[in-house]
Amino acid sequence: MHPELLAFSHQVRQSVDARLQEALAHFAGEGAQLRDAMAYSLTNGGKRVRPLLVYAAAQAVAAGRPDGLDWPAAAVEAIHAYSLIHDDLPAMDDDNLRRGKPTTHIAFDEASAILAGDALQALAFELLVQSPLGAAEQLAMVQCLAKASGARGMVLGQAIDLAAVDKQLSIGALEAMHQYKTGALIAAAVELGALAGGATEAQRQALGLYARAIGLAFQVQDDILDVISDTETLGKQQGADQQHNKPTYVSLLGLEAAQNKARALHQQAHEALAGFGPQANYLRQLADYIIERRA
Ligand code: IPE
Ligand code: IPE
Ligand code: MG
Ligand code: MG
Ligand code: MG
Repeated sequence: MHPELLAFSHQVRQSVDARLQEALAHFAGEGAQLRDAMAYSLTNGGKRVRPLLVYAAAQAVAAGRPDGLDWPAAAVEAIHAYSLIHDDLPAMDDDNLRRGKPTTHIAFDEASAILAGDALQALAFELLVQSPLGAAEQLAMVQCLAKASGARGMVLGQAIDLAAVDKQLSIGALEAMHQYKTGALIAAAVELGALAGGATEAQRQALGLYARAIGLAFQVQDDILDVISDTETLGKQQGADQQHNKPTYVSLLGLEAAQNKARALHQQAHEALAGFGPQANYLRQLADYIIERRA
């Protein structure tokens, strides 16, 4: 990771984690087991890529850092954490390792994991409407995150993913699946940052192209890492996609073509930012990180 992005990511992690801790503190008392399961998945070492994108997109369009970014950043991370808890359940990918630790349904139990995911989803929208942003911005954010999370976004992608097990997909269908299950939430993170930063329509369009490119690149790299990395580095079971017979960029195109695809998307992401000055450098460094990452 670029040293500037690394320093920025430490700041972002601190801010967003403080916001998440405060939100979790409200669930004291009754429901301690539910709160613990939510906290387990929210605070056990995710990379915080989506919160970083919220801050970096806002920075790209606003002079200085706009106020109130912690809420949308925490909200998109809450949706992400919920998506991972459910993704790992026996009825879905049936994984028992995530971020180097037992998955939530192993550390707790299946019902607690399902409910923690449900509660994190609701928490995300509560966070958005608690933000100090104006009512119009809050409404736009709720609409953006709801669309990206639900049956026209992440959940649709997950449904397609599960239906595709043991099947061959066309490359177009695979790309659509990846855009829904992973790209949509990544694009929402960029859009939430752009909204908070008061982006112009032209800026939003350019950032939309950037987001589509890195969103797909993120899942292409996830598919690649499932093949070339190891369980310890990944913190999740290496080879899980092959084991479950999932169609991926690597299974469909081979490793080299998948790596070329990731590089082409990386190039597209940089091109989309051509009209931005150095204020967009964190976004550029994030695009680099997404295809260079090893975990
Ligand atoms: C993993 O996401 C699931 C995908 C969408 C590919 P991340 O790689 O961002 O997971 P964490 O939060 O850093 O563990
Ligand atoms: C994850 O895809 C997509 C979502 C959680 C929405 P994967 O199933 O490939 O993610 P990992 O590899 O388990 O993190
Ligand atoms: Mg999955
Ligand atoms: Mg999975
Ligand atoms: Mg994967």
